[in-house]
Amino acid sequence: MTFPITFAKKENKKADTTVIGIFEENKLTDSAKEIDKREGGLIKACLKNNDLFKGKAGQTLVIPLGNSKGQKSLQRLVLVGLGKKKDINHLEFETIGGKLYQALKSASAREINIDLSDIEDTSKSSAAEITNHLALGLRLKSYRFDKYRAEKDKAAKKAELKTINIVTQANIAAKKLFIATEAIEKGVCFARDLVNEPPNTLHPESYAERIKAELKPLGVDVEILDEKKMQKLGFHSLLSVGQGSIRESRTVIMRWNGADKPKKGTAKKKTRAPLALVGKGVTFDTGGISLKPGPGMDLMKMDMGGSAAVVGTMKAIAGRKAKANVVGIVGLVENMPSDRAYRPGDIIDSYSGKTIEVLNTDAEGRLVLADILSYIQEKENPQNIIDLATLTGAIMVALGFEYAGAFANDDDLWNQLNHASQNTGEKLWRMPLDESYRKEMESDVADLKNLGGTGYGGACSAAGFLEHFINDGTKWAHIDIAGTAWWKTDKPTTPKGGTGFAVRALDDLIAHHFEK
Ligand code: BES
Ligand code: ZN
Ligand code: ZN
Repeated sequence: MTFPITFAKKENKKADTTVIGIFEENKLTDSAKEIDKREGGLIKACLKNNDLFKGKAGQTLVIPLGNSKGQKSLQRLVLVGLGKKKDINHLEFETIGGKLYQALKSASAREINIDLSDIEDTSKSSAAEITNHLALGLRLKSYRFDKYRAEKDKAAKKAELKTINIVTQANIAAKKLFIATEAIEKGVCFARDLVNEPPNTLHPESYAERIKAELKPLGVDVEILDEKKMQKLGFHSLLSVGQGSIRESRTVIMRWNGADKPKKGTAKKKTRAPLALVGKGVTFDTGGISLKPGPGMDLMKMDMGGSAAVVGTMKAIAGRKAKANVVGIVGLVENMPSDRAYRPGDIIDSYSGKTIEVLNTDAEGRLVLADILSYIQEKENPQNIIDLATLTGAIMVALGFEYAGAFANDDDLWNQLNHASQNTGEKLWRMPLDESYRKEMESDVADLKNLGGTGYGGACSAAGFLEHFINDGTKWAHIDIAGTAWWKTDKPTTPKGGTGFAVRALDDLIAHHFEK
């Protein structure tokens, strides 16, 4: 269970821990001075004798109290560095929140006041926004995936953080904003849960049901296409990938019509073309007949990370009742070798009518995306489409784990994405689309082939393949998140494992460019 976060002008009198924000240049804020006075000058004394704590952003210092002079229940003060006052930046406050969570956990703090009463509005962000970002950092860092640990550490459970009260003058605005913050957090954490879920429990059918169970109560319309339906529609490319598995494939379509909801008493508004979000949902990628090597194959449970980003974003925007029309579509398959599996050499059909020569069954993501990209364009006529996929190892060769690669056929859409990326810290780097990559994917015996010819630039040829399925005039971006959907090490606001990458950036993009 996650801890509640409240915003108030006053301290929680029962707290065992008081956190005090300290700026780098002027050391003690006014409220810190007051607490210092109450505790007999302890803070000043500690700062004086400490060469390590300098108020730099995210630094922490725990000061145990023998006997608090001010509050009976108080057991410790925690100083947290806020950096330079003139450099206050909302993303930095998320990081500070993440680092502070770590310090509070190590100190076994349970009921906590965080004194941010000296944070003021800046030219870029309001005090309410800044405090919310700190709260988001705390929550995102506290994420755990421990549902399968039968022997959960009981002592640790007992020492879990119970409540956080953020003391701020902007408490009313902060509290209001926290509704959206919490919706975003829930979207990110749902995406993480899905990516962390093992492939024996998360397979296409169970995944589809889980999406429905999670999103329907929020008012999202969820439609599940089963194999029979997809067969009838002609999703031959997607179905080929899934045919080797005993698990049936699924496509899930999620519709959130927040811009079209007519106000009571007014006529229904004209329907606005939605933004379409498209996700690769390979619940396990063995490579199929072109089998992957054994070591590290367990990680291929994360090959549904693109779909998780789409589903998580739908949860976030529905949770905060975004005034936007967004349709999400995810193709869910398991890529297995078997006597029924598709083979290298097969020529398969697709929803678009284009035929595809399969040269490597491990290049399956593009085959899944091809059908759902074509289908959603025909069905919903979106002006903007963004697809997300753990598509290629090659993007990791190019960019590592810090940046996802973004391919866009429209500068405006790229600029909007870039802005959202910078605003949320989910880093995107623009990669090239080019006629030559599209040409590389043409086959001698079919319209297309699923493997590039050069052996180099695999992320770009994969994007070139997808571009064959984008209609003229549709603004489209493809984001390859193979390196960012799963992190092997802890980051300031992201514990290792599934990251929920792209939920925050997509939510920000929708908030700034697709809401009325
Ligand atoms: N799911 C993989 C890509 C991947 C690799 C994601 C590592 C996350 C971490 C994808 O389906 C794949 O296997 N791609 C192949 C394509 C190749 C056969 C053209 C690859 O990148 O090797
Ligand atoms: Zn693969
Ligand atoms: Zn894959």
